This record gives sequence, C-alpha cells and structure tokens, in this order.
Amino acid sequence: MDKHYYYQNSVQCVEAEIDFVESTYQLIKGHPARSLREDFCGTAQTACEWVQRHPSNTAIGVDLDPLVLQWGENNNLAALAPDQLQRIELLNDDVITASTQQLDVVLAMNFSYFIFMQRSQMIAYFSSVLEALNTDGVLFLDAFGGYEAAKELREERECDGFIYIWEQASFNPINSQMQCYIHFVLDDGTRMDKAFDYYWRLWTLPEITEMLIEAGFSSAEVYWEGTDAETGEGDGIYSKSEVGTADAGWVCYVVAEK
Ligand SMILES: C[S@@+](CC[C@H](N)C(=O)[O-])C[C@H]1O[C@@H](n2cnc3c(N)ncnc32)[C@H](O)[C@@H]1O
Repeated sequence: MDKHYYYQNSVQCVEAEIDFVESTYQLIKGHPARSLREDFCGTAQTACEWVQRHPSNTAIGVDLDPLVLQWGENNNLAALAPDQLQRIELLNDDVITASTQQLDVVLAMNFSYFIFMQRSQMIAYFSSVLEALNTDGVLFLDAFGGYEAAKELREERECDGFIYIWEQASFNPINSQMQCYIHFVLDDGTRMDKAFDYYWRLWTLPEITEMLIEAGFSSAEVYWEGTDAETGEGDGIYSKSEVGTADAGWVCYVVAEK
C-alpha cells in the first residue's frame, strides 16, 4: 500500500486551496501572486499545482523528511512539463531555519504548524516566515476546531476504492495536546493502521491571530466558510469574518499580511 497515494486522494484538495490563495491574494493586493513557498510540503502536491497555474509562477517546497520529498519527486514532480519543473524546487530543511528568496506567498496547510507546542516556538516560526516574505507578502494557514475537535473520536469517510479513517486518539485538556492518526482500509480488506501519526497542540483562532501580530504581521484575518442555503452544509466559499458559527467541527483559513 502506498500511503502517500491514499493521503493525496482523501485529505488534500490542492485545487481548492490554490483557488483560495490566488483569489484572496489578488483581492487584497490588487495584483497576482507569483512566488510561493509551501511549508511542511510533504509530497509537494500544492507546489506542483501552483507552477501549473501560470507560466511565471515559481514554487519552493520545504519538508524535514527526505523520504516524503523523494516520493513527491518521483510522482508529482515527475508528472510536470519540463518548463514547470524548472520553476519548482524542493528543500529538505526545517521550516524555521530554511533560507529562501523573498516570496509573495507562504502557505502551511493541513494544520501542520500545530506541531509547535509552545508560543515561543510558534512565534519563532511566524517570525521566520515574515522574514521570507517580500513587502507585499501574505501567509496563508488553515485551522480546525469546534466542540468535537477536543473529543476522542474516530470518523470514517468512503473514498474511491478505500475508506479513510480519522482518529483523535487522545486529548489532554491541561495542555491542549492531542494524538491523531489516519488509517486506511482498502475495499479488498487490506488495512494500513496508523499510516500517519500527528501529535499536535489544538490552538484556538484568537491564539493564532494574536501570535501572528506578536511576530510582526500587520494583520491576521479569519476567513470563515459560508453555508449552503439548501443543504445547511458548508458551501466551500471562505470570506473574511468577525463572527463564526459554533459548529461541532469547522475548518477555516487564516490570512496574515506582512
Ligand atoms: C500533515 S503533513 C502535511 C503535508 C502537506 N503539506 C499537506 O498539506 O497535506 C506534515 C509534514 O510536515 C513535515 N514537518 C514536520 N515538522 C517540520 C519542520 N519543522 N520543518 C519542515 N517540515 C516539517 C513532516 O515531515 C510532514 O511531511
């Protein structure tokens, strides 16, 4: 079983992520973003999507794990056209110390920055991003929460040819740290238990936006998902908001300008 294949086909929706980054950057800056760094890039699927969007787009992916970067090279980068491949670079480095050119956009998706447990570590990360951004630069993050986020639970979702299982195995209310896993079960019964393992601190939105401002960002705004009037479910459209809904589980974006 190839865990990265199943991850990409259950967790990630890079087209929607990049749609949001492109349109939000254009809206707030009045011109398109061209250079992007994908922090915690894993297989660099988002960076690959970026270089495919426009012939002037450039991308850098940063990840600590050489094996996941190699998988990205062999699968995602290998599928790019030669001119796209020239505009993407993968760095095997720590996001806090990685030294990169000045960028229009840095993004950290799928809550990867929740690995930082202390405020000082998170602020050190946000400060290093601030330095990597050019004067018009913007940091895009996602975040999750809601009253079920702090609950020990297992959720299953049917995907194409397999079942994706998200497990919040433990949550410690004293330090807000949680142990999560992703498991996969193929339609033929093959199991991949604990394919991915995350030990995170469940940060709240005010903590995140306050730390961004403390790190030196000039603004840190929450983009909340709208509701489809017919189904009552999220409509996939995220807009700048001051008030959210007290849902059981929500995912939103945080957008911070240098
Ligand atoms: C949740 S995955 C995210 C994959 C992908 N970005 C996504 O959105 O689905 C987290 C990734 O962060 C990497 N990672 C963890 N700590 C890191 C650090 N300090 N610097 C760079 N990468 C790190 C791990 O190797 C792993 O590939």
